[in-house]
Amino acid sequence: MMSLKNKKAIITGGGRGLGKATALEFAKKGIDVAITGRNEDVLKATVSELSAFGVKAIYEVFDVSNYNDVQRSIKKIVEQLGTVDILVNNAGIAAVGSFNEMEVAEWEKVIQTNVLGMYYVTKEVLPYLIEKNEGDIFNVASTAGLNGNPNISAYSASKFAVIGMSESLMKEVRKNNIRVITLTPSTIETDMTVGLGITKENSEEHVLQPEDFAQLISSALELPRRAMLKSAALWSTNPI
Ligand SMILES: NC(=O)c1ccc[n+]([C@@H]2O[C@H](COP(=O)([O-])OP(=O)(O)OC[C@H]3O[C@@H](n4cnc5c(N)ncnc54)[C@H](OP(=O)(O)O)[C@@H]3O)[C@@H](O)[C@H]2O)c1
Repeated sequence: MMSLKNKKAIITGGGRGLGKATALEFAKKGIDVAITGRNEDVLKATVSELSAFGVKAIYEVFDVSNYNDVQRSIKKIVEQLGTVDILVNNAGIAAVGSFNEMEVAEWEKVIQTNVLGMYYVTKEVLPYLIEKNEGDIFNVASTAGLNGNPNISAYSASKFAVIGMSESLMKEVRKNNIRVITLTPSTIETDMTVGLGITKENSEEHVLQPEDFAQLISSALELPRRAMLKSAALWSTNPI
């Protein structure tokens, strides 16, 4: 099994939800972690939990949808970590509403955050991985990126776009020994899904939890470098 100790990771949206669970899993494995998001209090609290595992844990506050901020912040993070080995493109938002009723600005914000945000961050991190001739990038899509459904057109469009972008990138940078992994999880209990009323709090008996997602990521990282998990759909076994 590949040792992950002393690797350096950036996790966007790492203060809570799937990103936080991934950051905790990484810290347990000895990976130094930089988490990002817009809410400084949340990031600070998570960094103190991460530091308890004895790894270097830092945070940077920025909005992934602003390219200038992404450029500045990624540079700062890499300076602090010394290098970067792993990127988890996790930050994202969802919006529910009919095609007809959703405001143009809301539809645009979902695309700007989920697609352009991921593109901006990846564009800034990729040169470091190419230079090292090694690295891992996890792109968090969704089952909504595989099938459209009523009232989630913006979210679904954004996640279809993520899958296309991710697969193209994977085919480009395999030759650089960079593994690009596209994840399409189903419903996991987080602020996002509880907030949308898709799942309930304390549903751990049946519904996927953030730590299940985190375990999938670390299992993919522990594969021998010759092996790449191209994509993975994580489902609850029996959610009803
Ligand atoms: N939960 C699910 O069932 C599920 C299923 C499939 C895919 N996903 C995907 O998994 C990812 C994480 O979702 P989650 O369930 O953990 O959601 P969540 O609990 O709502 O967390 C979203 C994270 O993204 C960050 N974020 C959102 N917009 C941002 C922006 N503009 N700039 C920087 N950071 C931003 C948030 O940080 P701040 O609030 O601090 O900015 C937060 O850390 C998303 O891409 C989501 O689409 C989730």
